[in-house]
Amino acid sequence: MLSKKRKKIGIIGCGAIGREVSLFIERELKDNAIICALCDVEIKKAQDLRDRLRTKPKIADIDSLVKEVDLIIECAHADCVGDVLRRVIDFKKEVIILSVGGLVKEDKLLKEAQKKKVNVYLPSGAICGIDGIGALGLANIEKITLATSKPPSGFLGVDYLKKKKINLRRIKKEKVIFKGKMKEAVKYFPQNINVSATLFFSSYFKNIEVVIKVNPHLHRNFHQIEVKTDKGNLKIEVENVPSRINPKTSVLAILSAQSLLKKIFSPFKIGS
Ligand SMILES: NC(=O)c1ccc[n+]([C@@H]2O[C@H](COP(=O)([O-])OP(=O)(O)OC[C@H]3O[C@@H](n4cnc5c(N)ncnc54)[C@H](O)[C@@H]3O)[C@@H](O)[C@H]2O)c1
Repeated sequence: MLSKKRKKIGIIGCGAIGREVSLFIERELKDNAIICALCDVEIKKAQDLRDRLRTKPKIADIDSLVKEVDLIIECAHADCVGDVLRRVIDFKKEVIILSVGGLVKEDKLLKEAQKKKVNVYLPSGAICGIDGIGALGLANIEKITLATSKPPSGFLGVDYLKKKKINLRRIKKEKVIFKGKMKEAVKYFPQNINVSATLFFSSYFKNIEVVIKVNPHLHRNFHQIEVKTDKGNLKIEVENVPSRINPKTSVLAILSAQSLLKKIFSPFKIGS
């Protein structure tokens, strides 16, 4: 029988993050949470994950999943973030969003969620230092820059590269493939540069400058962030191991979602 105290969790997107986060919940948070529903556009992926989970959650569409559970973990695609958040607000649930880039264009929905006191959690994801950037966001930020370098496998299937006739296989040395503002970066690289959107939501600084590079000699994903303010500067450098299931995703992003869940359920909370 289910304990009434356990939070019911629904996972949207059963790929690299959805799988590892679900297994973590069953392993580490079983006294606090239970996975009740899974959703994926590829049913087979939801079935495979269900087979690995002891609780055998039901497979559902987004609508019935949101109705069924208390906390939704979105780890699917930037395109479905608006749909998910709409339903989370309508059914007064809470949500953790991984596809942070998809939230940038959902300004109105996000304001509505805040007005209606719906909890929306964004994990730090593939970067760190979000606590410091959030604190400095309360002062006067003058400049934020992000330089991301990944191996070619981190950019497979990106339409923008096809349009620009950039062939990843032909790149023999480090190449800048994008230079511009955060809003354009998340538009052209919806699955590859969530980090820039997380920087935006932690600082609300509109002019984040983004440089994206492909480097065939790298085996890790690198992010260099610089923040300049009148109260101090930050330099953050992150070197991430890509996930074996999805090389576009860093293992740190998976660990960060797990760590956020741990924080939500623990009465001992560290970091601002
Ligand atoms: N915040 C961060 O720092 C950060 C870091 C890495 C990845 N991400 C984002 O998290 C999300 C998940 O990453 P991942 O590595 O697990 O990806 P993945 O490709 O391994 O898995 C995504 C799963 O979602 C499914 N899916 C796609 N669109 C869907 C939809 N509309 N409804 C339901 N299911 C859908 C896919 O079939 C796939 O099984 C991606 O959007 C990714 O860009 C964020």
